[in-house]
Amino acid sequence: MSFPAMRPRRLRSTGPIRELVAETRLSPGQLVYPLFVCPGEGVKKEISAMPGNYHWSVDTLVEEVRAVKALGIGGVMLFGVPGKKDDLGSGAWDDGGIVQRALGALKREVPGIVLIGDVCLCEYTTHGHCGVVSGGEIANDETLELLARTALSQVRAGADMVAPSDMMDGRVGAIRSALDAHGFQSAPIMSYAVKYASGYYGPFREAAGSAPAFGDRRSHQMDPANAREALREIDLDIEEGADIIMVKPAGPCLDILRMARDRCPLPLAAYQVSGEYSALVAAGRMGWLDLPRTMMESLIGIRRAGADIILTYFAKEAAEVLA
Ligand code: PBG
Ligand code: ZN
Repeated sequence: MSFPAMRPRRLRSTGPIRELVAETRLSPGQLVYPLFVCPGEGVKKEISAMPGNYHWSVDTLVEEVRAVKALGIGGVMLFGVPGKKDDLGSGAWDDGGIVQRALGALKREVPGIVLIGDVCLCEYTTHGHCGVVSGGEIANDETLELLARTALSQVRAGADMVAPSDMMDGRVGAIRSALDAHGFQSAPIMSYAVKYASGYYGPFREAAGSAPAFGDRRSHQMDPANAREALREIDLDIEEGADIIMVKPAGPCLDILRMARDRCPLPLAAYQVSGEYSALVAAGRMGWLDLPRTMMESLIGIRRAGADIILTYFAKEAAEVLA
């Protein structure tokens, strides 16, 4: 059948009809809000490259997460902005570290929202790299034990889930064994399985103070030119025990999300990263784009491409639109 019998416009003619036939839905429970926690008290300091995002101290963070939970948002992901750093990044696995203290407080004060710890060393190392630096290179195998310690320490402190973002080979397996060996068989791992070396992380590096002091992250993060390699990364992480697979960044990788959705049975997460957020916010402020509208369009596009879960700095605004 074809025109004039078929007229696709019929199902677009009113809002209620469009709502009835919408193929993709977005709800606040599918969103995860990334947050930055720092030492001190009463701190709420705006991150200049990410307007509307802040460094929070533990006390103000607790209040913020209460509000996030009240909006129906599914989870929060914590990044640490520590008071001091060292060569190995020992603040990452310090049981009294900033993320660990935040996790403990949130577990007590705001039960019922999923608490996710980002597992990496770059926020805690003086050189800003994601692993142990040895002879100017990032040493893969030496880093694994430190990541495993970090994950274990976060779960002990109250994390419901850990999310390794470092891109070392073998880290999911190393973290799984460490958690299992200490009685945390039930703590899931959301693996940043497919993480590209992306310019869109720029604002985050200001937010987390984690820009590498020399070199870049291309020796461990993926080349944006590659798609088949993403499938290998996903297969390896599933074999090592990943429970959720993440693709990052989201908007520039919609093809990868679709491919992953078609090939991988696990829940799929997409991280709409700092640069994706800041670019839209900036264009909105210039009056060049309608921010609420493009924000929602970017999120529904990520869902339509195949993501079940979206990590996004728009989580609160989007949840308000959806309320
Ligand atoms: C740290 C980490 C990064 C992001 C999440 N975890 C930065 C990086 O790899 O350089 C990026 C998040 C964002 O840009 O919003 N390993
Ligand atoms: Zn890192």
